[in-house]
Amino acid sequence: MNLSDLVDRALPPAAWAEGDNIPWDDPPFSERMLAWHLRQDSDAASRPSEKIDAQVRWLHEALLDGERTRVLDLACGPGLYTSRLARLGHECHGIDFAPAAVAHARGEAEREGLACSYELADVRNAAFGGRAAGEGFGLAMMISGQLNVFRRRQAAQMLRRAFQTLVPGGRLLLEPQRLATVVDGGNAGPSWYSAPEALFSSRPHLCLVENFWDGEARVSTQRYLIVDAATAEVTRYAVSNEAYSDEEYESLVSAAGFEDVRLLPSLIGVEDESQSVNLAITARKPEA
Ligand SMILES: C[S@@+](CC[C@H](N)C(=O)[O-])C[C@H]1O[C@@H](n2cnc3c(N)ncnc32)[C@H](O)[C@@H]1O
Repeated sequence: MNLSDLVDRALPPAAWAEGDNIPWDDPPFSERMLAWHLRQDSDAASRPSEKIDAQVRWLHEALLDGERTRVLDLACGPGLYTSRLARLGHECHGIDFAPAAVAHARGEAEREGLACSYELADVRNAAFGGRAAGEGFGLAMMISGQLNVFRRRQAAQMLRRAFQTLVPGGRLLLEPQRLATVVDGGNAGPSWYSAPEALFSSRPHLCLVENFWDGEARVSTQRYLIVDAATAEVTRYAVSNEAYSDEEYESLVSAAGFEDVRLLPSLIGVEDESQSVNLAITARKPEA
């Protein structure tokens, strides 16, 4: 795109028409994003270590009753949860399509001899079998608000596949975005920054951000326009998020076959003010 394409851009954009997501799977972007994941002074990409420790403790003690199991982490990123779960005795398989994140997770597992395997793949079409396909998982999880970035039918299809990969009595853990998070995000208005280098480019650039809420489709879209300072070339990214009410989350999970669907305020089971953008959902695959 050039600057006149930018001026002539669609207002508002149709949901998903300008792309599915920010470029997690682009190797240089994923290197830059990994650095953000590992930063302890910002929770823009990942939470601080103590927060993840507390969430993993809840997951291990309250959700899994301290029993070791096989865990499938969908969109696992750099393995911050799988590594910790493996240190507690669980065997983990993570799937993510960000190359630097998966390389980091693999490196950590190798260095520490953790029972973790990782797969560089798109969760929308990856087989969820993992290393020991056929044995089944005791827990399948997708956290950090990721469920919403998939179209409704894709989310429903992934939940059905997660269901199939679990053993009878196996658990599901989701951490999707609250309805208000998606609506307010879409109504947030525009903003911009300039930087000599940042997440979207390693060159001096402007980053223009626009947000849109489509009340009819119930989808928010965030559009990023990256203007290169030297060439004025414009690169566009967009990510859309589906908005669900609590009742819709319950029916989505139940429709995949799960029972005992519970909506909780956060990944530590109780209100956590610092994590109020998402909620947690747990459910169980029926025994036999
Ligand atoms: C916010 S990060 C969360 C990482 C990890 N779950 C955590 O909480 O630390 C989102 C992750 O989702 C991954 N992701 C997004 N869409 C994906 C897709 N279609 N297939 C595989 N991974 C995907 C990204 O690559 C990124 O690592």
